[in-house]
Amino acid sequence: MFITFEGIDGSGKSTQLTMLREWLEAQNKSAIVVREPGATKLSEELRAILLSNKHTITSTAELLLFSAARTQLVEKVIRPALERGDIVLCDRYVDSTTAYQGYGRQLDMAEVEACNRIAVQGLMPVVTFFIDVPYEEAQQRMQFLVNSAEPDRMERSGKQFFDRVRQGYLTIAHQEPTRFVVVDGVRPAEAIHLDIIQQFQSVSLRF
Ligand code: ADP
Ligand code: TYD
Repeated sequence: MFITFEGIDGSGKSTQLTMLREWLEAQNKSAIVVREPGATKLSEELRAILLSNKHTITSTAELLLFSAARTQLVEKVIRPALERGDIVLCDRYVDSTTAYQGYGRQLDMAEVEACNRIAVQGLMPVVTFFIDVPYEEAQQRMQFLVNSAEPDRMERSGKQFFDRVRQGYLTIAHQEPTRFVVVDGVRPAEAIHLDIIQQFQSVSLRF
């Protein structure tokens, strides 16, 4: 079973992913956890380039680099894991590209969708949890991160950009209400986790 987590930077999605993984482990169900971009050597190197403040990257180059990192991860890790019957939890996936490069950078949506299609070759999650928090709340949460470094290249994109990204996610939710679950992220982590478990259990019954 393939499950993804989405949200703007600092929304708390990695926290929720970890809580779900621990809950699954307590049920004797182990899950493979991966993040995007990343989780293969090539994809981690592309991640370093994409997030580095050293580079000025055009929006189209950014789209292609995220897509390249994704296709490597899908072919080398996610698809083989799913074929073995594992549960895969992925921190970000194609919806990040739609929200960030499509709505955020305002690239041509047909081109963004074409890149997404090429990158995943039909492999879509059964459920995506979108942890919805406003930009201001996410910014505040990031300030409390242990070892918080300087904002990376993407995090420097500013409020207007992140407001478009968030609205983009909400548009995806409207278009794909069955797969894309909006979770109110402005609550204690434990309350959000309980919602996610409930949704997970109802999805499990279908698969
Ligand atoms: P993301 O993966 O979306 O960037 P994280 O899970 O790393 O977000 O969380 C960002 C920060 O917010 C961390 O310091 C984390 O402890 C904190 N955090 C996570 N969930 C919540 C929550 N529900 N309420 C308040 N703070 C939270
Ligand atoms: P990450 O550390 O996963 O984000 P977070 O701060 O939420 O933990 O960093 C990945 C960054 O890359 C994040 O700013 C979102 C962005 N991104 C895109 O713009 N497009 C994509 O397709 C993906 C996967 C990520």
